[in-house]
Amino acid sequence: MDLMEKLVSLCLRRGFIYPSSEIYGGINGFWDYGPLGCELRNNIKAAWWQQVVREREDVVGLDSSIIAHPETWVASGHVANFHDPMVDCRLCKHRFRADQIDAEDRCSESKDGKHDLTEPRQFNLMLKTSVGATEDASATAYLRAETCQSIFLDFKRVMQSSRQRPPFGIAQVGKAFRNEINPRNFIFRSREFEQMEMEFFTHPKDAGRWFEEWRELRMRWHQGIGIQPDKLRWHEHGDDERPHYAAEAFDIEFEFPFGWRELEGIHNRTDYDLKAHSKHSGKELTYTDPDSKERYTPYVIETSVGVDRCLLAVLSSAYTEDEVGSEARTLLRLSPALAPVKVAVLPLSKKLSEPTRRIAVDLRRRFHTVFDATGAIGRRYRRQDEIGTPYCVTYDFDSEQDHKVTVRERDSTEQERLGLDQLAAYLSERILGY
Ligand code: GAP
Repeated sequence: MDLMEKLVSLCLRRGFIYPSSEIYGGINGFWDYGPLGCELRNNIKAAWWQQVVREREDVVGLDSSIIAHPETWVASGHVANFHDPMVDCRLCKHRFRADQIDAEDRCSESKDGKHDLTEPRQFNLMLKTSVGATEDASATAYLRAETCQSIFLDFKRVMQSSRQRPPFGIAQVGKAFRNEINPRNFIFRSREFEQMEMEFFTHPKDAGRWFEEWRELRMRWHQGIGIQPDKLRWHEHGDDERPHYAAEAFDIEFEFPFGWRELEGIHNRTDYDLKAHSKHSGKELTYTDPDSKERYTPYVIETSVGVDRCLLAVLSSAYTEDEVGSEARTLLRLSPALAPVKVAVLPLSKKLSEPTRRIAVDLRRRFHTVFDATGAIGRRYRRQDEIGTPYCVTYDFDSEQDHKVTVRERDSTEQERLGLDQLAAYLSERILGY
C-alpha cells in the first residue's frame, strides 16, 4: 500500500473521514468528517484563527451567509471567468479537466488506453441553486465559490463597527463550493470544502510590504502546526497562471503523497474587488484618511487556505510507522494542539474503572480526554498512537496506595510516574503550553 492508500484506510477505519452518503453509493467530491476528523478540523481552524485574528489588533472576524446576492458573482468576475477547460472522451464517455489529464487516466474502452478526446470547452465551476418559490432565471443564486467576496461587500460595515482603519484585515472561515470537473486525490479537490481566508486592506503604497509580511507569517504558521518544513515550498505564479483578480500571486505548496500541489494562495488583489463591487452596486467603497484627508480605494492582500487540504497535509506529515520492542506500530505525530484526543485515561484492569474515570472527568474540563478500559494495555496504547493522542495516563493497583499514575508520551513511548495532584498542571504545560 502506498502512503495515500494507508491514509485513506486509517481515516475510514478510525473515524476521521468517510465518503458522503455512502449507503447510496457515495457522491463524487463530497466527504463527511467523523468524530476524530471534526475534532482535527476544529483544531486546525482554531490554530488559524489564533494566529490570524486573536493574536493581532488589526484583524477582525466575519461569518457571512453562504448565499449572497447573485450580482456579487457577476461583479467579482466569477460568472464570466470562473471556468475550467473540459474535454470528453468519445469512447468511455468520461469527462476530464483538459489541463489535468495525465498518464493514470487510461481509457477503459480503447485498446491502447488512449482517450479519444473532444476539443476543450469552457465549463463554469459555480454551483447554482434557486432561492424562493419560483425556479426561473430571476431566482438563480450561487453557492459561494470563495468566502472572500462577502468580506468585500461588508468591508465598510466591518471597518466602521469595529473602529478599524487601513491597514486592517477581515478574516472568515467557511464552506465554499465548486463544481469541479474531476474531484480527486481524496479530500484534496472536492466540490464542497472549507476555506480560511483573510483580506488585509491597505494603502496602495504599502501593499508590497504587507504582501511580504503575510507571506512570511503564513509559511511560519504551517511549520508551527507541525507540517514538515522540507515538504513546504513557494511557487510564484507566472503571467499565464495568475487568477484574474491578482497582480501578484504566490502559492505555498506541500509535497502530498501524489506530488507537490497548492496548499495556500497568497495574492495581491489590488483594488480589483472593491472597485468592481462599487461600480456594480453604485455604492462607494473607498476610505478617507481622517488625518491626510486622502480618499482612496484600499488594496487587498489575501491569504487563502483550504481546511481540507491543510488537514491532508497535516495527516501526511504526521503519519509514521516504527517499531516498539520489535513490534510494528503506526502513529500520527500530531502536535498536541492539533491532536483530536489530547489524553487517554486507562485503568490497568477493569476493576480500577471507577477511580480512573474520575481522573478523566477532571481532565475533560481542560482537554479532550477519552477513557478506555478494553483490551490489553499495549493494544490500548497502539490504538491511541494511531490517532495521534500525545499522552496516555494509566491507573494501576499501586495508584490506589501511592496516588500516582503513569504518563506515557506517544513519540518516545517514555513513561513517567507522577502524583495525581501534579497531573493536570503537567499535561497543561505540555498540551496548552502554560
Ligand atoms: N479567494 C481566493 C481563492 O479562493 P483559490 O486558490 O482558488 O483562491 C484557495 O483557493 C485555497 O482553497 C486553495 O489554496 C486550496 O487550499 C483551497 N481549495 C480551492 N479549491 C479547492 C477544492 N476544490 N477542494 C479543496 N480545497 C480547495
